[in-house]
Amino acid sequence: MACSVLFICYWSMWRSVPFTVNGKECAARVGTPLETLLEDNGYFGAVPGRLLSISGAVLAEDGGDRCSVTMDGEPLDMAKLPETEVREGSSIEVSQGADRTEGSSEKTVAMAPGIQMESGGAVQFVSQWGAPGKKVVTVDDRSGETIDKEVVEAPVDMVVSSLNVRPQGAGKYIALTFDDGPSGYTPDILKILADKGAKATFFNLGNSEGRYGGYAKQLVDEGQELASHTNAHQYLPDLDADALRAEITASADALEAAAGVRPQMMRAPYGAFTANDWARAGDLISCNVLWNIDTLDWKRPGAAAITSMVLDNAFNGAIVLMHDGGGNRSQDVEALPGIIDGLRAAGYELLTVSELLAKDDRFPAEVVDGTVKMPEDAELPAAG
Ligand code: NI
Repeated sequence: MACSVLFICYWSMWRSVPFTVNGKECAARVGTPLETLLEDNGYFGAVPGRLLSISGAVLAEDGGDRCSVTMDGEPLDMAKLPETEVREGSSIEVSQGADRTEGSSEKTVAMAPGIQMESGGAVQFVSQWGAPGKKVVTVDDRSGETIDKEVVEAPVDMVVSSLNVRPQGAGKYIALTFDDGPSGYTPDILKILADKGAKATFFNLGNSEGRYGGYAKQLVDEGQELASHTNAHQYLPDLDADALRAEITASADALEAAAGVRPQMMRAPYGAFTANDWARAGDLISCNVLWNIDTLDWKRPGAAAITSMVLDNAFNGAIVLMHDGGGNRSQDVEALPGIIDGLRAAGYELLTVSELLAKDDRFPAEVVDGTVKMPEDAELPAAG
């Protein structure tokens, strides 16, 4: 009797139990943990799952679950395989391991404002400043990769308006502008304007002020408007952010030193001031002034051609492009008296650009006055 009890105990501890794995008959010692069964049998050929980043990039080909297991149709928790025993007569399915994503955290980050830029007008200015927003992102601990989770506060885009001047009320107004000075032609142009009691705006180059600083001061003293054409007449979209800002600031510094006023109004060389430039330096200027009528004076077509280009195309609110520097400007000097007389005969009053902008209340006072200041809580858009 004692002998048979011992035998039964021995038999029940060491007996082999049958079951199937993926439909094939198998057997193992009773009480064998599933994990041991899988390890001893090479996981029955199951391909391991991958470790993925939060965006689905594969961080490790075999970093996921080693395999997936069901026993009698019931999915098993992989963490519990060491303590789950093979059940007699059970049907076990072993298949490819599940992919796993692990180790991520959330954080709140700032969102830079975007920029919306209108086009088609001669005068560009910021009509709405940008403001940053906030969003929650998920950060993958291993890869550092982030994905957006939710926007907590949407950023406010910077908006650059682009308007042609439409003077309100009765009267016809036009603004003559001179670029690339000062130069030796500037005093001749100033004398004509003074003799005729006419106003104009001069977009001066900062780096010309060293040679001709006296003219910048003179034109301001005579009631003409001084504005910036940047420091060295570079194509601004080609500059990096620091060089662009330096180009604008150096001009303002030079003009202020020469004439005692610090102009915010600018005309970018070639008129080129892109949305990206506004994003990088829009806080440094009140407006970028383009033109409606290009006299093409730099081609030296003759004084009569320059004159008729202005008179034939004049309209109320127009801004006219001429030059007092950058080359031989004798034809501008020759044409100017006839231009002033012809415009007046057609009923136009000649104004500076600021005076012209003041005739149209769509231009904010600080743009007209050149006293724009980006608000403390505003932020420039993300720029390239
Ligand atoms: Ni120019």
